[in-house]
Amino acid sequence: MKIVYPTVVEAWHHPPPELRERWKKQYGKERFTFEEALYAQSFPKSWIFPPQESKRWKWIAEAFPPKVAEYLFNQYLKENNLVLLDLFAGIGGWSLGAFWSNKFRKIIMVEKDREKCSYLRINFSRLGIDFEVVCEDVRNVDYLRLGKIDVVVASPPCEDLSTLRFLNKYGIRTVRGTIPLTTFTIELVEKLKPRVALYENVYRKELRRILEHHGWVCQRFDMSIIIPQKRIRLICVKI
Ligand SMILES: C[S@@+](CC[C@H](N)C(=O)[O-])C[C@H]1O[C@@H](n2cnc3c(N)ncnc32)[C@H](O)[C@@H]1O
Repeated sequence: MKIVYPTVVEAWHHPPPELRERWKKQYGKERFTFEEALYAQSFPKSWIFPPQESKRWKWIAEAFPPKVAEYLFNQYLKENNLVLLDLFAGIGGWSLGAFWSNKFRKIIMVEKDREKCSYLRINFSRLGIDFEVVCEDVRNVDYLRLGKIDVVVASPPCEDLSTLRFLNKYGIRTVRGTIPLTTFTIELVEKLKPRVALYENVYRKELRRILEHHGWVCQRFDMSIIIPQKRIRLICVKI
């Protein structure tokens, strides 16, 4: 029987005692490897991550599983030859799923972290698909320059709302703008009018209410139906 891993979090790297105890009881071991995290998140072993442990663990933990992206594109898109705009692209989970789905002729990724941008370029240049990395804050991009966009996907940073909150070195919760960046996404989608837009974040009623208020259809999505990981997320769609 295949193991269904617990949600991949940065703490997989150095789990605190309470997590280690729980995993020992549930999975018979206290730690998981980076290869297991790649597998649980459905990334190929060949995907290139930075060598620094803490960085690679953070990036894989916050990534969107490409197998789930591929599944959602197949569910919502009947056409091919599309152009994708991947906002908050990170290490490229949504975009890799788009490539696997064979529905896109061009992928445009927006990410503000320079180092992530260079890893996006390295990984996507090996796939042989037309792509562009816009290394900018999503709020500063000239979207008209990008031409017609068919599909928008967005996974804004979730740290403000995560259960394992992102604390700075003084133990103070950092604010990375989950709600303002969600509102920005909603407004951008209203301007660009793509055929389909997909939004993902940690499951919080507050976020769900905001998106549904603007006509998005939301669900509490259990990713373990597609990937070997207990990962429950909010997925919203606007058609
Ligand atoms: C939850 S992660 C998204 C992960 C991504 N979907 C993946 O598969 O790796 C959020 C990403 O948004 C980026 N980000 C945060 N604020 C941003 C902004 N204002 N503009 C562009 N990117 C931003 C972060 O650097 C991070 O990579």
